[in-house]
Amino acid sequence: MFQKFREGWVRPALFFGNNPISLAGGAITTASGVTMIAYWLVEIFGRPNDNPYLGIIFFLLLPGLFIAGLALIPIGVWVRRRKLQKAGQIPAEFPKIDLNDRIFRHGLDIVLVATIMNLLVVSVASYRGAAYMDSPQFCGQSCHVMHPEYTAYKIAAHSHVDCVACHIGSGAASYFAAKVNGTKQILEVTFDRYPTPIPSPVESLRPARYICEGCHTPARFVGEKLLVKSSFADDEKNTETQTVVVLHLGGLDGLSHLTGIHGVHLGHIEYIATDPTRTTIPWVQKRNADGSETVYAASALNGATPQGERRVMDCIDCHNRAAHPFVTAEEALNQAMADGPVSPELPWIHKEGLVLLKATYASQVEARTRIPAQLEAFYRSEHPEVMATQANLVKRAGDGLVTLYSQNVFPFMKLTWGTHPNHIGHMSYPGCFRCHDGDHMAKDGSAIPQDCSVCHNLLAVDESKPKVLSDLGIQ
Ligand code: HEC
Ligand code: HEC
Ligand code: HEC
Ligand code: HEC
Ligand code: HEC
Repeated sequence: MFQKFREGWVRPALFFGNNPISLAGGAITTASGVTMIAYWLVEIFGRPNDNPYLGIIFFLLLPGLFIAGLALIPIGVWVRRRKLQKAGQIPAEFPKIDLNDRIFRHGLDIVLVATIMNLLVVSVASYRGAAYMDSPQFCGQSCHVMHPEYTAYKIAAHSHVDCVACHIGSGAASYFAAKVNGTKQILEVTFDRYPTPIPSPVESLRPARYICEGCHTPARFVGEKLLVKSSFADDEKNTETQTVVVLHLGGLDGLSHLTGIHGVHLGHIEYIATDPTRTTIPWVQKRNADGSETVYAASALNGATPQGERRVMDCIDCHNRAAHPFVTAEEALNQAMADGPVSPELPWIHKEGLVLLKATYASQVEARTRIPAQLEAFYRSEHPEVMATQANLVKRAGDGLVTLYSQNVFPFMKLTWGTHPNHIGHMSYPGCFRCHDGDHMAKDGSAIPQDCSVCHNLLAVDESKPKVLSDLGIQ
């Protein structure tokens, strides 16, 4: 049988394989295989390199070349065979192979070893390629379209959670769906047809039950949470005031009562949103403990059920910016002034900083040069004494403003301050007040409550040096 195999397959293969296409294929495969193996060795023994473009070369392009080279070998065989067939030149008997011939025997050994090596390389390469495509480097950095989400992700609490942990489910089906979707997106990017900005919400996101609850226990009792926020005024002194709020986060308490913000919403509230950002929610339905249902409807509906997306409320309806926090210019500047990068000691910095942050720049590159330059020009012409004594603070503030801008505004994606609303809270966006606006009424006249004290105790609102903070020893 071995003899037959050799006569019927090996000899013709060798005969037909001796053609330029197959030989080139072999060369390409060998060259890319050797390069990849060398890179893996460097990776194992050397310093890992996070450059996403190296990843594209080594995990996607080279494996592609490797396989293309392999594919060229049978193509060359086929072409040569057809050519000879047409010319009627197929030999009746293929050149003899003689296993007693040492050189030939070694030739066969090499082919065998090379085939095993190739199989190994292909399997390692496809594994590495798949793993690479799951990495935040690939998702976030190799494609400039993802730049805004990646930038925000890097400074969020979830900067160490892989994109795929939230965006792609486990199992072969969702893996396949994600790859189909990803290929579509690559085509969109290639042909410049992608939407700007990338729309939010992500309709294909799985319910939070499968994403967030893999790591967070929703029923974990958080109880009360203290929130302290600083804000600065537009006067010369950037007068600082603070707001101190105790949020009733609740959860599942020791007596199995579901209480507070976390306790009351999950699993039994449905709503209909009539706009694509889920900001307008005129209709809300709650399933009560006894199985009955209460509908809270905005008065403008006059009892009708609106058309729109119907959804069971989950974590993402409040925490929609958990991984990609874009803030407003005011929030960004207040935070930076409280934390220090933009010093409140600089006169007028709050007013001037906001003006510079909200101005229009063609690109982040332009903002990077114009913001610091204009800040300096402002102090030079209006307050030369500041430039004389606090030039270093002005420089730091300029850099600080640039950072805030670069984290939140991406002109090339048409993403700017406020493009993506944050549903937590109610100060900058409707957030909780999408439903808790006092206008969502049930038939019995009760409303989804808007009492401030239902959600939080306001211990201080915009007070300068609130006493409660010094009582708590926080200030
Ligand atoms: C902790 C979970 C989580 C991680 C990790 C995560 N995302 Fe998201 N992502 C979300 C949520 C939640 C939304 C908003 C969905 C919504 O409102 O429906 C979102 C939205 C997006 C959007 C749509 C545009 C927008 O800003 O809303 C893009 C694009 C995106 N993510 C890309 C990424 C990339 C790239 C990474 C990795 C670098 C990543 N995400 C990591 C949870 C996550
Ligand atoms: C793979 C695990 C993982 C997943 C999935 C995950 N988280 Fe987290 N999350 C964390 C970790 C870890 C932290 C704490 C980070 C820290 O304290 O630095 C965190 C922190 C948070 C915080 C507090 C962060 C803050 O800004 O103070 C919120 C809110 C949160 N997660 C919500 C969510 C939501 C909503 C989802 C689903 C879209 C989600 N998480 C998915 C691991 C995860
Ligand atoms: C009705 C709105 C709402 C829903 C739904 C919601 N949260 Fe929250 N969550 C909040 C608010 C408000 C806070 C406090 C925000 C802050 O710290 O600024 C919070 C805080 C948190 C924190 C931080 C807690 C801490 O100790 O600081 C985590 C983690 C969290 N939520 C996870 C989740 C997860 C997971 C889900 C879904 C199972 C969820 N939340 C559903 C409103 C919500
Ligand atoms: C999609 C609509 C919707 C959104 C958005 C929403 N809620 Fe609610 N919330 C409800 C409904 C419905 C109830 C139940 C009202 C009732 O039982 O009378 C409720 C009840 C509550 C309660 C308990 C009230 C009570 O009487 O004890 C708190 C606290 C609360 N919500 C906080 C929040 C916070 C904080 C946010 C924003 C982060 C928020 N909700 C966003 C629909 C919503
Ligand atoms: C449905 C729940 C809910 C109701 C009702 C509510 N709030 Fe709030 N409020 C919140 C949440 C949640 C936050 C925290 C937002 C965050 O994490 O940044 C907040 C934050 C605040 C803050 C500090 C926020 C900041 O960014 O400076 C003030 C001030 C405030 N609320 C005032 C009020 C007043 C006044 C009322 C009554 C008219 C009220 N709230 C009613 C949920 C509510």
